[in-house]
Amino acid sequence: MLDTSKNRADLPPEIARRRTFAIISHPDAGKTTLTEKFLLFGGAIQMAGQVRAKGEARRTRSDFMAMEKDRGISVSASAMSFDFKEFRFNLVDTPGHSDFSEDTYRTLTAVDAAVMVIDGAKGVESQTQKLFEVCRLRDLPILTFCNKMDRESRDVFEIIDEIQENLAIDVTPASWPIGVGRDFIGCYDILRDRLELMDRADRNRVAESVEINGLDDPKLAELVPEELLEKLREDLEMARELLPPLDIEAMHEGSLTPIWFGSAINSFGVKELMEGIAQYGPQPQIQSAEPRQILPEEKKVSGFVFKVQANMDPKHRDRVAFVRIASGHFNRGMKLTHVRMKKPMAISNPVMFLASDRELAEEAWAGDIIGIPNHGQLRIGDTLTEGEAIRVTGIPSFAPELLQTVRAGDPLKAKHLEKALMQFAEEGAAKVFKPAIGSGFVVGVVGQLQFEVLASRIELEYGLPVRFEASQFTSARWVSGDKLAVDKFTESNKQHIAKDHDGDIVYLTRLQWDIDRVERDYPQVTLTATKEMM
Ligand code: G4P
Repeated sequence: MLDTSKNRADLPPEIARRRTFAIISHPDAGKTTLTEKFLLFGGAIQMAGQVRAKGEARRTRSDFMAMEKDRGISVSASAMSFDFKEFRFNLVDTPGHSDFSEDTYRTLTAVDAAVMVIDGAKGVESQTQKLFEVCRLRDLPILTFCNKMDRESRDVFEIIDEIQENLAIDVTPASWPIGVGRDFIGCYDILRDRLELMDRADRNRVAESVEINGLDDPKLAELVPEELLEKLREDLEMARELLPPLDIEAMHEGSLTPIWFGSAINSFGVKELMEGIAQYGPQPQIQSAEPRQILPEEKKVSGFVFKVQANMDPKHRDRVAFVRIASGHFNRGMKLTHVRMKKPMAISNPVMFLASDRELAEEAWAGDIIGIPNHGQLRIGDTLTEGEAIRVTGIPSFAPELLQTVRAGDPLKAKHLEKALMQFAEEGAAKVFKPAIGSGFVVGVVGQLQFEVLASRIELEYGLPVRFEASQFTSARWVSGDKLAVDKFTESNKQHIAKDHDGDIVYLTRLQWDIDRVERDYPQVTLTATKEMM
């Protein structure tokens, strides 16, 4: 068996068995289908198709969700837990659309690994590349699934080359496809010397698996047509020469990705990928924090909020903070310290997400994701501990790339609008700036689509029709530095100054020239494009 030494033997078994990961992919590559099959094999759903069916039933309840469906994007991220063999998988969903990259980035701070799904006919697409870059910023280990092998696909070496070249990561094959398109019959499992044969008739059936004693095993010739077998032998020989073997350490450092080939819709290759995640995927990792880092095995519980989602059910005005448990063994009813507010908080109704049903979480371990319903006390970046003043780091807020002003259709509803905007700001759905001069708000987002989502959510959740209009500003920078210098600067630049929802000062810019001018004229003032959430 291959070495998995990067995973520690001394972690408590409950923590060691956890695998917390996200799936990244370009829209349409098969993320939803793969998720569904994960849940199916994890026993969380009985029949494939349920995730979608449930999703659709839910979607009919709101136009916002309908918009999500029309556009074929997943706007909101959620987390799902299920068991696979002796392992507990926590799958955190990432929004696939590029307009939600900030949300995605923060989601990726809560996982220990990512599964990258690519379409075998299309290879590395734009969104795969972007999401991959985000993973790279955190050196996240990546496992790759090359999907849709039941259809005409590209040559395997070409796909591997493209990943290596475009993403600058080494690739090692964990399995190798046999035949292409209509002739695709299955895969050779390189890591375990098995032949996996796909059953095209039953999409929910797990492939037939035949143990093989190396490539010269006569069983191969009985099961694989001669010309395909010959090509397989040639390919594997070439792969052995050209591609690196599986090196767990390199994979955990994010410099090598194992690739599995399969067809999610046919349930093919999915189990092997799950075995791979279980066997080689990283355990819950050490969390960076100040003034010290947090080890998963620490007895005391700690966790941090990486996402806040409001009004998940439009009928109940609830707000759920998604918390990644960073250490310890959490039990329902525990009192944890809200470090930013320096206040105790009883966590009496934490939820876990099993497929799309919520359940009360009686307990959770380091690595798990729980949802904490609250009335706005918990914000992105908040840390919860058993008393110690530790603050988890590395959850940034990015300067928005698009700014617009927003007005309520009914001017008497300005207060309601402010409330709605503040809520979205705390949820991380947008940046909201209150300019020092004049009324109204400037809203900042990363992608245009977010304005549309916001407008429909404000109307739907608050009954407030709103108008977004062009703003003279194009970006924003957080202002810091010596207090006197900052005061002087804000006083003389009032028309550019605003406050964000935390009350921090920002400088609204029109052109890069504005920023250059400040840097030149106010050397004691610093403008930054990111702010650490806390
Ligand atoms: P996404 O979440 O990444 O956007 O992808 P999703 O799973 O929704 O899959 C996108 C399309 O690709 C779907 O088809 C899905 O059925 C199909 N698909 C997924 N896996 C495979 C596979 O292994 N082989 C083939 N041939 N197709 C696959 P659709 O027509 O858009 O939707 P549907 O009508 O099938 O639901």
